[in-house]
Amino acid sequence: MQRIAVLTSGGDAPGMNAAIRAVVRKAIYHDLEVYGIERGYVGLIEGVFHKMDLGSVADVIQRGGTILHTARSKEFMQPEGRQKALENLRQRGINGLVVIGGDGSFRGALELHKLGFPVIGVPGTIDNDIYGTELTIGFDTAVNTVLEAINRIRDTATSHERTFLVEVMGRNSGWIALEAGLAGGAESILVPEIEPDYNEVVERLKRGIARGKRHSIILVAEGVESAYKVSDEIKTRIGLDTRVTVLGHIQRGGTPTALDRVIASKMGGLAVELLLQGESNLMTGIVGNKMVTVSLEEAVTIKKTLDLEAYNLAGILSI
Ligand code: F6P
Repeated sequence: MQRIAVLTSGGDAPGMNAAIRAVVRKAIYHDLEVYGIERGYVGLIEGVFHKMDLGSVADVIQRGGTILHTARSKEFMQPEGRQKALENLRQRGINGLVVIGGDGSFRGALELHKLGFPVIGVPGTIDNDIYGTELTIGFDTAVNTVLEAINRIRDTATSHERTFLVEVMGRNSGWIALEAGLAGGAESILVPEIEPDYNEVVERLKRGIARGKRHSIILVAEGVESAYKVSDEIKTRIGLDTRVTVLGHIQRGGTPTALDRVIASKMGGLAVELLLQGESNLMTGIVGNKMVTVSLEEAVTIKKTLDLEAYNLAGILSI
């Protein structure tokens, strides 16, 4: 192994830059040449590669987003696109690739591995929906961003004695809603993994009102239903004065938390070590505060389950 490359793909996540920095600096430490590929698989197909040095990743550890830019490539889904990508890598004498992204990105990485190219995945997505790791890069920052929003909303909700619905990201995954809801003391948390029970939501609101509670916060993961629709449901059933806040892409930006920077640095460093050991088809992960690996096949085919114990606890604590 003499020359490796790194790309970021799919939705950006705070901490991706810390991971790029770790890959670049660990590679240079081991006397490898390292190339950054622009816009994920799009740049891989179009041949947009830049040689990176120590200075290329200076002053980025604290920045959200990704300095390499990111994209979702349709062409890479086709065998012709992947062949072009492979040629670009081989022409430049690159013999290992680190892919930082989510499950869609890893599906692409797996295809490259099947073509005989060494690839290591580093999980970077705010959704925390990747099997094989307890944490993905960006999740902790996103949860803290939502929590800050909840704190602010709680001030106005308390003052006006209102019920607020806060819609958070997560098309197929309720991790952001669950952890931000648990940390923010939400009255109800609606996640895509569990069929919403509006009677239960309303019952909880009624119980709160009966004991003198005049404000409530309900977290809705985007994959469940639009928070506006949930708000209408509640209005129709108990006629409460509700307001809706959709947090949207605010959750994807911002300076990464210490935890995201630490796991990004560890995972990026491990990815380079794995390539140096001649490994491929692996994703880096963290389980029980220890670095682990899982195969890319497992990472993309096994569904990570929501922490139901934490979900039930959140329900008990917010009665
Ligand atoms: O996968 C990350 C994520 O932010 C999801 O939570 C969300 O559903 C999706 O990306 C939004 O994608 P886009 O930025 O393409 O609208």
